[in-house]
Amino acid sequence: MNILLIAAISADGRIAKSADQLANWTSKEDKRFFVSKTKEAGALIMGRKTYDTIGRPLPNRLNIIMSREADESKNIHGELEYTAKSPVEIIEELKARGFSSVVIGGGTSIYSLFLKEGLVTDLYLTVESILFGSGVPLVDNAPQLKLDLQTVEKIGEQSVLLHYKVTL
Ligand SMILES: NC(=O)c1ccc[n+]([C@@H]2O[C@H](COP(=O)([O-])OP(=O)(O)OC[C@H]3O[C@@H](n4cnc5c(N)ncnc54)[C@H](OP(=O)(O)O)[C@@H]3O)[C@@H](O)[C@H]2O)c1
Repeated sequence: MNILLIAAISADGRIAKSADQLANWTSKEDKRFFVSKTKEAGALIMGRKTYDTIGRPLPNRLNIIMSREADESKNIHGELEYTAKSPVEIIEELKARGFSSVVIGGGTSIYSLFLKEGLVTDLYLTVESILFGSGVPLVDNAPQLKLDLQTVEKIGEQSVLLHYKVTL
């Protein structure tokens, strides 16, 4: 299973200036990459807080929302699924449903959780030309990991896309 952590980061490694910030500071090239990669995978896992900043399921993909108080009555099978299951259980279920890739779409707590579980196989980081100075970190209390740089691509005037494989 390809488990792809995808994030846009500032030059100082932040994923947002503040917790309630919308993803409106990232480039159109990064948004295009995120849409294309999540549609290709077919499934996207995110935390409840990140989902609340979006406010609706992203179309043509399975949106899995992690919440400790998952209200499954809001679920629309194959489109929007709230879950309180563990990362391992979620991945096993996706495999059983025939998915071969899934995107971990944040935020900090969900990125950190999947990294701690040793589940992430790839990181795609778009570095945007902004320095927040303070803000929401990519990860918090995640383990140290060795990464293997695969590609560096300038995807727009002000954006660089880094692809790493997680080495064991
Ligand atoms: N730049 C980027 O690429 C990018 C991408 C995504 C997000 N973000 C930013 O990230 C920030 C949000 O990050 P965040 O860490 O505060 O929130 P988050 O990870 O989006 O969501 C946190 C929520 O996830 C649920 N959760 C966490 N651990 C869980 C577990 N073990 N089991 C079940 N549910 C669990 C909880 O929901 P309940 O409270 O409902 O229990 C928790 O409150 C926002 O600023 C957003 O803009 C940036």
